[in-house]
Amino acid sequence: MNILDKFHHWRRKMRWDKQYKSGRWDSLASEKELKRYQQIIDYIETHGNKNPSVMDIGSGDGVLTMRMQQTPYSYFLGLDFSKVSIEKAKARKLPNAEFETADAITYIPKRKFDVIIFNEAFYYIHDTKKQEVLDRMISALNGDGIIITSIYREGTGCWEFFKDHTNLKELDFTNVTTDEELRYWKVGVYAKL
Ligand SMILES: C[S@@+](CC[C@H](N)C(=O)[O-])C[C@H]1O[C@@H](n2cnc3c(N)ncnc32)[C@H](O)[C@@H]1O
Repeated sequence: MNILDKFHHWRRKMRWDKQYKSGRWDSLASEKELKRYQQIIDYIETHGNKNPSVMDIGSGDGVLTMRMQQTPYSYFLGLDFSKVSIEKAKARKLPNAEFETADAITYIPKRKFDVIIFNEAFYYIHDTKKQEVLDRMISALNGDGIIITSIYREGTGCWEFFKDHTNLKELDFTNVTTDEELRYWKVGVYAKL
């Protein structure tokens, strides 16, 4: 990233903080979004280890963790570069869960995980950093770990990183639709090879 990219990146981070502060993203916890969280949870239950450790990159204010309260997990780490979203996630006081302000572009995981999730977050990673970030996160997966990705609508320029990755094998891929034509997500689950 050149200096201009870094400036825009910083500005975007500030924008996320402002939006989380204003409640702009409270809608993520609404019923309208439920199906995509449910699809991710179904994939964790179907393809993940029992009682998995989970890292959620770009976790926002912890909606996925909140939605997972009926699904046993041994440890949940949510990361987001928006400090405000992380403060909101911490305020939920969810069991066995930690939330950390961290930028996916530079974050180096301190342990291995059974499940790593990019839930509506991968497309925000700068194009020149997508490969590097994905590779770094794959190296933090346990041998039998899985990666789950959810992307709003088509996700052009994102899916190739997962589908064509030499160390990933697609286990399943779903279109999550709603009664609104333009509100849909694609969700994929990948095993580490
Ligand atoms: C649409 S929100 C999704 C939040 C959450 N995953 C969910 O679905 O409930 C995208 C999130 O990605 C975060 N994000 C964007 N770029 C990031 C980066 N480089 N590092 C960490 N988080 C990032 C934003 O702050 C925001 O919380």
